[in-house]
Amino acid sequence: MNNAAPQTIFLKDYKPFDYTIDSVELTFKLHPTATRVRSKIVFSPNPKAPESSPVTSPEASEGKRFFLHGEELRLISAAIDGASVTPREVAGGIEVDAPDAPFVWEAEVEISPETNTALEGLYMSNGMYCTQCEAEGFRKITYYPDRPDVMATFTVRVEGDLPVLLSNGNPVERGEGFAVWHDPWPKPSYLFALVAGDLVNHPGAFTTKSGKKVELNIWVRPGDEGKCAFGMQALKDSMKWDEDTYGREYDLDIFNIVAVDDFNMGAMENKGLNIFNSSCVLASKETSTDANFERIEGIIAHEYFHNWTGNRITCRDWFQLCLKEGLTVYRDQMFSGDMRSHAVKRIEEVLTLRARQFREDNGPLAHPVRPESFVEINNFYTATVYEKGAEIIGMLRRLIGDEAYRKGCDLYFERHDGEAVTIEDWLASFEEVAGRNLAQFKQWYSQAGTPRLKMSENWEDGTLTLTFTQTTPPTPGQSEKKPQVIPIATGLIGPNGDEVVPTTVLEMTEATQSFTFEGLGARPVASVLRDFSAPVILEREIDNDTRAFLLAHDTDPFQKWEMGRALAKDTLISMIVKDTKPSFAYLDAIKSVLADDTLDPAFRTLSLGLPSQDDLAQSLVDAGVVPDPQRIYDAREKLRHLLADHLHDVLPALYKENETGAFVPDAEGSGKRSLRLAVLGLLSLQDSGVTAKALYKRADNMTEQAGSLQALLAAGLGADELQAFEAQWKDDRLVMDKWFMMQVSFAAPDKAAELAEALSQHPAFTNRNPNRFRAVFGALTANHAGFHHASGAAYRLLADHLIALDALNPQTTARMSGAFETWTRYDADRQAMIRAELERILATPNLSRDTTEMVTRILSA
Ligand code: BES
Ligand code: ZN
Repeated sequence: MNNAAPQTIFLKDYKPFDYTIDSVELTFKLHPTATRVRSKIVFSPNPKAPESSPVTSPEASEGKRFFLHGEELRLISAAIDGASVTPREVAGGIEVDAPDAPFVWEAEVEISPETNTALEGLYMSNGMYCTQCEAEGFRKITYYPDRPDVMATFTVRVEGDLPVLLSNGNPVERGEGFAVWHDPWPKPSYLFALVAGDLVNHPGAFTTKSGKKVELNIWVRPGDEGKCAFGMQALKDSMKWDEDTYGREYDLDIFNIVAVDDFNMGAMENKGLNIFNSSCVLASKETSTDANFERIEGIIAHEYFHNWTGNRITCRDWFQLCLKEGLTVYRDQMFSGDMRSHAVKRIEEVLTLRARQFREDNGPLAHPVRPESFVEINNFYTATVYEKGAEIIGMLRRLIGDEAYRKGCDLYFERHDGEAVTIEDWLASFEEVAGRNLAQFKQWYSQAGTPRLKMSENWEDGTLTLTFTQTTPPTPGQSEKKPQVIPIATGLIGPNGDEVVPTTVLEMTEATQSFTFEGLGARPVASVLRDFSAPVILEREIDNDTRAFLLAHDTDPFQKWEMGRALAKDTLISMIVKDTKPSFAYLDAIKSVLADDTLDPAFRTLSLGLPSQDDLAQSLVDAGVVPDPQRIYDAREKLRHLLADHLHDVLPALYKENETGAFVPDAEGSGKRSLRLAVLGLLSLQDSGVTAKALYKRADNMTEQAGSLQALLAAGLGADELQAFEAQWKDDRLVMDKWFMMQVSFAAPDKAAELAEALSQHPAFTNRNPNRFRAVFGALTANHAGFHHASGAAYRLLADHLIALDALNPQTTARMSGAFETWTRYDADRQAMIRAELERILATPNLSRDTTEMVTRILSA
């Protein structure tokens, strides 16, 4: 682990590196515990560096102090211009005195991939070597200026007796026991990758619009070849989409994707050699659900799109992370919308934005999309940087229009190709093409917190006035908030249900601002924040009849869904707080949506979904009520039963009508299956699981197999099926992750911790595999009433396992500690129990910098 005292890094302290790099040559002699890495790097003084730092050693009379990052490396030898040197060990790396002129650095180090359980740097996963360098993992491979603003071309020689030896760029030479790769595009070290293993490929090819033929491969372990076809198609679709939509072509002769089982994240965009968590690329109808297929398509696109937004143009420093991540998420969202359905995709995006980013913004971990300081950068790959970062791009586009958006992107690519840049550089391109000052807009990057937008209406003489007031609650380190630029997409629906004013973007820039619509015949109903045009919380006075009216008539699918959601939430909150019966406005509205077969089945499924327990807990806090997790759970269960009763007469027909023929993982098929399975969930509350058991028996695809099992589990049934599932899939790691996850997700509140504990003793459980760890403990933390059960058993169990995991894998531990971020919402007893666990974690000897930073920030609430 890292024992250096944790240091805080500040954006304002940015300084360019003293040298630039002309070229990097690396040679790897692979060995599980003693891999040798030789480097030969040509450095030149950087003309953009502020001034040369003075030499520190008294015996050196000339030259510059030269610092290279390095962690957990055993230095074998180092030389400058052929003369051996002895570097000084300093915090986080080494230092030597180097010429104030071009020179050649040569070094050899030894590393141990097999014992690298952090899965960062060079490590082994099931006998295969692979790397993960973003953000700061390259320094665990060799001494190097491991920062994104140092870009260089790499030539890599890999020596080892494994059949497949891969690195970035184009293949140069291949012989017995070695391979040489050359990447002609300058890149930062975080995009370096190496893979070696006994792998097989699923091949493909793509011809770019200018006629360049590109070889494509998905590399997997033998036995997984049959699970690559879908990913390969997604890759080709992504390549075509980036040409058609952004005019961006691929730029190497080959594009490789590798699937690895042990991976901290979903996937990584290394230049020409993307590395994927196997769960995010391997797909077959027998083993993957529709949701898996959709995710795989999106993530393949995301990593491919980074080739331009991230790789060709990269970040100057890690504070600019949203420059590549927010933009690339926005791009993959648009791609998925084009491939499937924009309406459905948008609702799903808003659901995750609210569940993850609004939650983050509301608690101790709130930070700006461009943070100003960090201790461990891995802790800032957050929902805020990613999802709010993507929302900012969407707002920018809405404000300047599609044409200026595309022109601005073109200008950005043209100006900055091959550079490491900032948010200022990104915005400058749009200011120029749109002829518009984006200074106030830029606050979206620096101001944390979710703006609350209050709306009031006034109707007089055919004029409707909408008045908005925006406020943003304080967040850690930011008590004063300024008004933001908020694009509010608005339309008006007349009393007869016709749209009288189509979508217009109201541009709010002041704390309070009014907008008028004149010349209206009769008072219309305003449909506000269409398509969720800004990441804000809209508060308006609206009764359930008006909501039901908009649900029935709004032309904007997002608002139509939103009105149903508001009805559901309202119903649940008053059930929880006032013990009322559910409102008929809600039950009837849902019934008519379900019965409306002009609506996309996927949309109808989303409308049937209830707000999550976590979401309800936050809504209660916002209403000044301390949430009781058990009460929330009970009310939601009660409403599920009432819904099942109320929809009793339509469920069987819906179940029948939405049967699909042969399994095709497209939008149409998955929409029908999702509706059918949601209906099955309700049916199972009434028929003792007969229908679900029958479907489980004959299902020929994982969507229906897992879906029917979940319907049973959610009805307190399914023990036999769970056993059969394990027997059938015990040799498939990815499917077994589902087996672990499903049981914990649907466990009753008083059983969840006990079950997770038992599963952590299962022979197939291991904390060396992040997917498996997340299957059990991610599911436990997502089981709201189970995690927050009054006994505190789940808090204790999670803390025990986080402490154990931290010694192996700090990154995944830190990420999962975020489960505690909402702790101040709950009552004094729960708060005391959580605080005790957080303090226990923090008191662990040698706790990683990653987890220390997270737990400290969470405790500071
Ligand atoms: N660059 C990231 C992967 C990454 C994240 C590396 C954090 C190191 C630290 C990659 O492009 C990414 O964003 N992956 C996401 C999925 C994506 C679809 C949002 C992931 O892995 O979850
Ligand atoms: Zn990314």
